[in-house]
Amino acid sequence: MTLQEKLDELRRRHALAELGGGEERRARQHAEGKLSARERLELLFDEGTLEELDKLVEHRCQDFGMADQRIPGDGVVTAYGQVNGRLTFAFAQDFTVFGGSLSEANAAKICKIMDLAMKVGAPIVGLNDSGGARIQEGVASLAGYAQIFLRNTLASGVVPQISAILGPCAGGAVYSPAITDFTLMVEKSSYMFVTGPDVIKTVMHEDVTKEELGGPMTHNAKSGVAHFVARDDPDALALIRELLSFMPQNNHEDPPRAETSDPPDRCDPELDTVVPIESDRPYDIKEIIHRVVDDGYFLEVHEHFAQNLVVGFARLGGQSVGIVANQPAVLAGCLDINAAVKGARFVRFCDAFNIPLVTFEDVPGFLPGTQQEFGGIIRHGAKLLFAFAEATVPKLTVITRKAYGGAYCVMSSKHIRTDINLAYPTAEIAVMGPEGAVNIVYRRELQKAEDPEKLRREKVEEFRQRFANPYVAAERGWVDDVILPRETRLRLIRALRMLENKSDMNPPKKHGNIPL
Ligand code: HXC
Repeated sequence: MTLQEKLDELRRRHALAELGGGEERRARQHAEGKLSARERLELLFDEGTLEELDKLVEHRCQDFGMADQRIPGDGVVTAYGQVNGRLTFAFAQDFTVFGGSLSEANAAKICKIMDLAMKVGAPIVGLNDSGGARIQEGVASLAGYAQIFLRNTLASGVVPQISAILGPCAGGAVYSPAITDFTLMVEKSSYMFVTGPDVIKTVMHEDVTKEELGGPMTHNAKSGVAHFVARDDPDALALIRELLSFMPQNNHEDPPRAETSDPPDRCDPELDTVVPIESDRPYDIKEIIHRVVDDGYFLEVHEHFAQNLVVGFARLGGQSVGIVANQPAVLAGCLDINAAVKGARFVRFCDAFNIPLVTFEDVPGFLPGTQQEFGGIIRHGAKLLFAFAEATVPKLTVITRKAYGGAYCVMSSKHIRTDINLAYPTAEIAVMGPEGAVNIVYRRELQKAEDPEKLRREKVEEFRQRFANPYVAAERGWVDDVILPRETRLRLIRALRMLENKSDMNPPKKHGNIPL
């Protein structure tokens, strides 16, 4: 072979890899509103930084006529590059090659970049668009999935892992995204399910569409499997870049600081009147969050799921923080099963990756009812308590209004190692609301009273005076200070700076046993 022939052979192989499943299949992908695997990676990485690996890998399957159908790259593009100037690893399944199905060879490609990411401590992004296990390869393909799941598990809490579902993701394949930290789905083109509509029809005699069963809103609003919904592929990739900007590269680093022109000592007089004086009137906790954080920017996570608890990322004085807030505008801010699970997972992510937690609390308690009790609110509620108690990152809490009962303990109270607990003058810290308390404590007196309503009103007022304020807790030091709401930003940023070198530990153990 001449030198020229060798160069031509290399070009031919690269061209074949880039062509993937061919023009026709690529056109079909575009017609469905989807980008190709390489187009997606180009949008994920900073311009000109994509470095592909294993472009020439081919499958080794000899069965079902596969020996004659080899495409360099074998249906997945794996690469490293820069995202916001920081090293990131990614794989993108190519649906034009055997439906992006997972073969032994392409699983090995994915495992290779996951291993590299773990060695150098950098995030892993998975762009999923696949018909699942490559049917022709049988157990070799299943083995490939299991090897990926193992790596997802070992990488959890070591490097951030993000999954985007940009097409089908079915069968056992869903368990890789499920183990990763955040899952995004795209409107119209993505779906996830363990068993599809046809199996459900056969086994359960139920009719359900793909969209209803596993479309983006099903998983964003109902199941909680997905954390974000994007309009289209470019929107999803921009969102991943945004999400990564709040995170460190790995669990040994702190998150990057961002420049901001928002003054750390900015006061906001409007904040003084956001919380209504009537304790049962709803308000939007997001208004407080937006007014407090840098440039009013809050990246909400799980926006459509368990809306009675708001979680997401923001910055305070350039420092990345995870925000957890009860939402009085939904279910009066009660904690229920979904909210507890949502909050616990977010708190654990922040704790694993050194992101301080800021909690805004206005919670009347746990949601009552047989549905919640039968569903295991005891077990699930304990997850949030466990997560907050276990977290060793800087923890700050602002009680804006109600902090009642067990929910007071759970929502990052002083007693579970929260560093700074602040309260607004509107805060009410008590075992339960005054009406409930009077009905229990004065039941006999109320039964015997000539005018039970009058007695009830008097006793409710007495309880309100005694407990529905932040000062009993402040007198004991369980609230560090009662602050003017307008100063929230300033006080939180000062506390965060004071806690910059915080070091706290849990007792040595293999791992805890969070009530799953
Ligand atoms: C091999 C596959 C494939 C697969 C699709 N293809 N899935 N090849 N293994 N799993 C191929 C098709 O033969 C076709 O090839 C091309 O990909 C595109 O597929 P279409 O069916 O034409 O596309 P579409 O109509 O868009 O339907 C997409 C689909 C469907 C819904 C994903 O292909 C499908 O149902 N596939 C099988 C899904 C499945 O049951 N997978 C196994 C799940 S169990 P040509 O040459 O025509 O372009 C599993 C276990 C995981 O994954 C184990 C982990 C524990």
